Amino acid sequence: MQAVLDRLSAFDRQSRATADLDLQAEVDALPLSTRFALGKEITPVQKAFFDRHGFILFANVATQPELDAIYAEICAIQDRWLAEGRKKVFGIPLFVGKDHLGHPFIQRFAFTSMFSDVIRDFVRDPRFEPVRRLVGDNARVGDNEKDGVVFNRNLNVPGTTYRSLGWHTDGLRDIFYLRGIKPQLNVGLHFDRCTAETGGLRLIPGTHKQGLVSTLLRKPYFVSHTPDPKEIAIETEPGDLTVHDGQAWHRVERSSVVGPESLRRTMYVPYLTDDYQPKHEDSPTPPYHYLGMALRRARKLRAELKAKLGR
Ligand SMILES: [Fe+2]
Repeated sequence: MQAVLDRLSAFDRQSRATADLDLQAEVDALPLSTRFALGKEITPVQKAFFDRHGFILFANVATQPELDAIYAEICAIQDRWLAEGRKKVFGIPLFVGKDHLGHPFIQRFAFTSMFSDVIRDFVRDPRFEPVRRLVGDNARVGDNEKDGVVFNRNLNVPGTTYRSLGWHTDGLRDIFYLRGIKPQLNVGLHFDRCTAETGGLRLIPGTHKQGLVSTLLRKPYFVSHTPDPKEIAIETEPGDLTVHDGQAWHRVERSSVVGPESLRRTMYVPYLTDDYQPKHEDSPTPPYHYLGMALRRARKLRAELKAKLGR
């Protein structure tokens, strides 16, 4: 009897190994630019693609009317925050630049779902359930944790402070706090058409599995913007959803277009699995934000000086 059971379990192991190989071969055959469809579950191929490369794109997850409704909320939040003269939200600094007409333009909004029921309801829509479970069965939307639901607007005009972002991994924050690097998946909803030429997210596939040395030393954090021979450009259409592993090396390339057409809008939803750590209006600013603030100030001064010198 035992011999039969052993034979059966050996057969089971072998057929599972063959299925794994078939799956890997299927993933190998897929181009990195594959646009997947988000269904009720993440399929084995989608999961294997994500595990292999550290990112995945789901096409047309949100409709244009939904994107328009969210963006109307963002514009209303901007009006409110500018009128209040806000510098921070729950301790997180606002990035305020200028738009193409020279008006104040908030480029990074934190905690948006705490200020809009439309956004709060949208990020809880059942269609995102498979994505939430990809992060973890117990994952929750961190409305008032970390930086909350973040809305980014990249605009390439003179006076802007947030055209691009240098090479980094999101693990640096964990190293800064002397804790082990925790997996962090970045889930982004894209509002604009974005091609390799018009800038956007660049990522080195597979680097989410690198060791600590490569995480620390592969590139100088945030200062390096040099294209990497192994990087890929994540090209998006309005309504696409991307998931990328924050442990992979990534950067944001500035747009080759100048003016209002360069606008690129992305909303990031934080799915969290660690202990509940709510923030509020009196929360302190995390120390690493001061470095970012100093860098943006220096960049702004340099731009103003250049403009004065007529160069
Ligand atoms: Fe990042």
